[in-house]
Amino acid sequence: MRMRNKYRKPTTLRCNAGSRCSMSAVVWSLVGCLLILHLYSIVHHKDGVGEEFQMRMSHHPQFHELQKVEEVNIQIPPPRGKRSPRAGKRRPRRTTTLIDEFLDENSQLRHIFFPDKKTSIGPLKDQGNDSYYYQPGRIWLDTEGNPIQAHGGGILYDEKTRTHYWYGEYKDGPTYHAHKKGAARVDIIGVGCYSSMDLWAWKDEGIVLAAEENDETHDLHKSNVLERPKVIYNEKTRKYVMWMHIDDTNYTKASVGTAISDYPTGPFEYLHSQRPHGFDSRDMTIFKDDDGVAYLIYSSEDNSELHIGPLTEDYLNVTSNARRILVGQHREAPALFKYQGTYYMITSGCTGWAPNEALAHAAESIMGPWETMGNPCIGGNKMFRLANFFAQSTFVLPLPGFPGSFIFMADRWNPADLRDSRYVWLPLIVGGPADQPLEYNFGFPVWSRVSIYWHRKWRLPQGWSGLK
Ligand code: DGJ
Repeated sequence: MRMRNKYRKPTTLRCNAGSRCSMSAVVWSLVGCLLILHLYSIVHHKDGVGEEFQMRMSHHPQFHELQKVEEVNIQIPPPRGKRSPRAGKRRPRRTTTLIDEFLDENSQLRHIFFPDKKTSIGPLKDQGNDSYYYQPGRIWLDTEGNPIQAHGGGILYDEKTRTHYWYGEYKDGPTYHAHKKGAARVDIIGVGCYSSMDLWAWKDEGIVLAAEENDETHDLHKSNVLERPKVIYNEKTRKYVMWMHIDDTNYTKASVGTAISDYPTGPFEYLHSQRPHGFDSRDMTIFKDDDGVAYLIYSSEDNSELHIGPLTEDYLNVTSNARRILVGQHREAPALFKYQGTYYMITSGCTGWAPNEALAHAAESIMGPWETMGNPCIGGNKMFRLANFFAQSTFVLPLPGFPGSFIFMADRWNPADLRDSRYVWLPLIVGGPADQPLEYNFGFPVWSRVSIYWHRKWRLPQGWSGLK
């Protein structure tokens, strides 16, 4: 049908015999087709990358092993204690979940989440065929036979010494509650540092940033909180720079602290704390991009969102540039990594020391927008996947020489005895199409899938440079 226009001669196009379409309809159809083609090409491109990677990896038997889906079958025991004769007829007041069992120190399943010392792993023990095998949740001993104390940590690869340094919270003290309703805590002892060439045998390098024993006004006074320390190297200043979450007992200070050293093994000199960009800051991490620009990422606005912004060139401060990301999603424990120009992040929900569901996020630009992709966990069982294998993200370490493969580092917190918190290291693989509809993209999965595979035990691929 032809629309009459008094003022302009209508632009028309003959479509088929006897019918005419308006120019605007054709233009809009073309735009629609182009949009669909564009989205298809993005999906196809991403899928292509994944397929190529999957193909390459599928030829490597050890990668095949890492991506094996390993199930865990756990029977939840019936509730303990005296039961009335009518109990069998009544539904229990609350269904016992694996998370309840996990949090119950007296649970019959305790040994599954916190295996005892006899099962510990480490280079001093005669591990036989188990050498180099990560066994998530088991006590992990250093080269002197002591449990590694590097919780909420991260790893720096030092090019100069070709050594990996693992920094984390040294929590080898008694757990207590400062207030009736306060979170379980351990006094600040300091930041522990361990070194390794092979990522399995770790040498204790001591406490590289120590607590302040006497000065109660000092950020590092033992009564305060120091969490999630991360270290990066600044090529321009030749300094090792540490960022960490600094807080008071009640988590109201909500700040970040910085420290600096000439050596990866410290000692680090504490500089000061601040509320970055004027905002509260709790769980945090830093990320150094390929171009040398480093970023601070922190949970803010009472953990309801994350903020991200570049650091100054010397890595000692934030700049005025920052963005809000994952707004309203209530995420913490950010662990950021990059693969083929795309930025990825794993986060947890906010449930104190208790485990919860991990989510993977992706972005084309580190400053956002970030999209949430879904739960990256594969294997175990449903509860394992919904509780991020009973652990909380802290860092994702790239495996050089194996593009798309990473070590996912997480903490299995033990709120009853925080020093006995365990490490859950698992292979993280980027590849293949995402399996959940995403935000902003009309349901088209445009990111490669991020997968964290559960394994009771696993080791790095033999060709990995750090291994003999
Ligand atoms: C969860 C955070 O991720 C941890 O680092 C720690 O701050 C606990 N909350 C304290 O409850």
